[in-house]
Amino acid sequence: MRLDRMSVSALEARFAAGRRGIILPLGSLEQHGAPGLLGTDAICAQAVADGAAARADGISAPVLAYGQAQFHLRRAGTASLRPSTLMAVLVDVLESLALGGFTRVLLLTGHGGNVAPAQAAMQEVMADVSTGRLALPAPLTVKLRAWWEGPRLAALRRELYGDREGFHATPSEVAIAMALHPEAAAPPESWPAFRPLPADPLHDAGGDRHLDAARHRAMFPDGVIGSDPSLARAEHGHALLEAAVADVAETFAAFQAAQDHAAR
Ligand code: NI
Repeated sequence: MRLDRMSVSALEARFAAGRRGIILPLGSLEQHGAPGLLGTDAICAQAVADGAAARADGISAPVLAYGQAQFHLRRAGTASLRPSTLMAVLVDVLESLALGGFTRVLLLTGHGGNVAPAQAAMQEVMADVSTGRLALPAPLTVKLRAWWEGPRLAALRRELYGDREGFHATPSEVAIAMALHPEAAAPPESWPAFRPLPADPLHDAGGDRHLDAARHRAMFPDGVIGSDPSLARAEHGHALLEAAVADVAETFAAFQAAQDHAAR
């Protein structure tokens, strides 16, 4: 069920039955190589969140379509929140959801650049509770995951793409976007030739500790980071989405059902 398509009374009935969890997908509007869709991260995170919520009797929120992508700035179509803005937005959304009765929020990101601001936001909310600035009706627990972290999906990515999966404009995220939006899919031959990740001790692309956009672009001129999106196929996308949904549904079901330690 999607939160934006539910009524207050339907939501309150779920709360009364003890189901107080929600999946909040986090996206980004950013370049994914010239042929890739700018909204790839939001499209994937929303689809996995909606599918997992449906499977695990949960609720998914509408995706936060903008994320922290400063390293992709100055490319057409990229719009980034600065890290402090994303943190502030997430603090407001998390505190609002908790004040309204949610006690479990699974942040499901589709973009690695969101991870550090999201972790800081989680601690900011906890600090507000700890200091007494925020009085919640019930304790809040927030968990952060990327949609691609589960074991089923990891195995399928490895099987389909091996070491050509890479870090950005990955064939798996491109395949899911193709499956969901076939009308916008680029043909395989439109992608740049595969380039393995260049070694650079100052610039660890896999850890999302990126430098500024100009140096990022000098290093990754075609916008692709160690991946080969020409391998993506729409039929892979359906299978990858199914695997990610199964992984995240399992995580969310356990998270929603977990009991809190009693507060003292
Ligand atoms: Ni992406």
